[in-house]
Amino acid sequence: MTETASISIDGKTHEFPVITGTENEKAIDISKLRDQTGAITLDPGFKNTGATQSAVTFLDGEKGILRYRGYPIEQLAEQSTFLEVAYLLIYGELPSATVLEEFRKKIDRHTLIHEDMKKFFDGFPSKSHPMGQLSCLVGALSAFYPESLDPNPTEEEEDLTIVKLLAKMPTIVSWIYKKSLGHPVMYPRNGLNFVHNFLNMTFGQITEDVEIEPEVVSAMHKLLILHADHEQNCSTSTVRIVGSSNANLYASISAGISALWGPLHGGANQAVIEMLENIKNDGGDSAKWLAKAKDKNDPFRLMGFGHRVYKNFDPRAKIIKKACDDVLERLGINDPVLDIAKELEEAALKDQYFVDRKLYPNVDFYSGIIYRALGFPTDMFTVLFALGRLPGWIAQWKEMRANKEPIGRPRQVYTGSVIRDYVSIEKR
Ligand code: CMC
Repeated sequence: MTETASISIDGKTHEFPVITGTENEKAIDISKLRDQTGAITLDPGFKNTGATQSAVTFLDGEKGILRYRGYPIEQLAEQSTFLEVAYLLIYGELPSATVLEEFRKKIDRHTLIHEDMKKFFDGFPSKSHPMGQLSCLVGALSAFYPESLDPNPTEEEEDLTIVKLLAKMPTIVSWIYKKSLGHPVMYPRNGLNFVHNFLNMTFGQITEDVEIEPEVVSAMHKLLILHADHEQNCSTSTVRIVGSSNANLYASISAGISALWGPLHGGANQAVIEMLENIKNDGGDSAKWLAKAKDKNDPFRLMGFGHRVYKNFDPRAKIIKKACDDVLERLGINDPVLDIAKELEEAALKDQYFVDRKLYPNVDFYSGIIYRALGFPTDMFTVLFALGRLPGWIAQWKEMRANKEPIGRPRQVYTGSVIRDYVSIEKR
């Protein structure tokens, strides 16, 4: 028998179906709630609201589980490559060696960006934030590839738009970095793997390839894999909701990039390093900063701590903390903020305020320290998060279209003035 949930309102009881996911997650299907009762639900921040049924990523915040298409994040981070994970997320299955090689070649054909896009870089002020540039440049791809505007493309056309975006994103990201230095851009070197090519364009010079240590390439794969998807978070929900209006892929992802930028979301990786630097420059007294984070009259929050869904630990943070130790050791780097981060984490995990609220280090707490060790400036960190999240956004956009989901349009409870008559300005 199908399980139901009842809601009583205005003296009447209504039954609603209960849907169970493949991991036994339960949801009350209230899609007919308003039709049946006249009422809506109110859930600011969508803390209890499922917006879709998705087969991309499974996350259990109580148990600290994260899986892409059923595969544990720990296995993927350790054994896979970023391009393979991108394929898995977007197409649903792990590719064979031949399929992956075909996919790599397809990507290679589209890594160049239109030369006219360079003019955008000339227009940006030299100190403009990379995330603003990234959302602008990704949105602008729709101008260079107008075929992406067709709201009803064939499967092949949709796939070409997806491949172009995946292929061009590393070029755009590395060119943003080059332009921030005032250096000439470096062109893609097809044949290198996706991540190596990106690092080469970022740290190579003009036509001179750079020697990149295998540890650096491997750390970058790991970081990008760990960021690749995270079910219905703020930026992904943005991508799906923008895409639900039939906006093209580039516009949808550009909106997702803007959503990611905020310090409560992907922008936290930049904010963490800035916070750790502040603490260091202030004498390194972590107790003082923990007290500030707990003080409700102080807007300061411990950046890189807490998560909407993880209430035990963030499995990505566990892997990144270990990778951080490994990378710094292999590269022979001694970063004083790492000690501060560890001290802060240790103190917070014992502190009743953080224990009561189940606040743990999240993915952003240690990632910035690795990015810094690899040679990236602080304001590039969130752009790297976006590069990693791209396959997830694409997979979720594609799934939303395949499911033929309706346009996203939440309701509200109106709390403004009731009807009143207009009074002309002379009489006010
Ligand atoms: N420092 C101090 N107090 C905190 C923190 C923090 N980092 N995070 C949450 N709290 C407190 C918050 O004040 C509230 O306390 P009270 O119940 O007394 O009012 C309680 O914990 C619950 O917090 P919330 O803001 O209601 O929780 P949320 O689920 O709405 O927010 C969050 C989640 C990630 C926005 C929040 O924990 C936060 O602001 N963290 C710092 C920013 C950060 O690191 N963001 C990156 C998230 S992971 C990357 C990603 O995927 O986006």
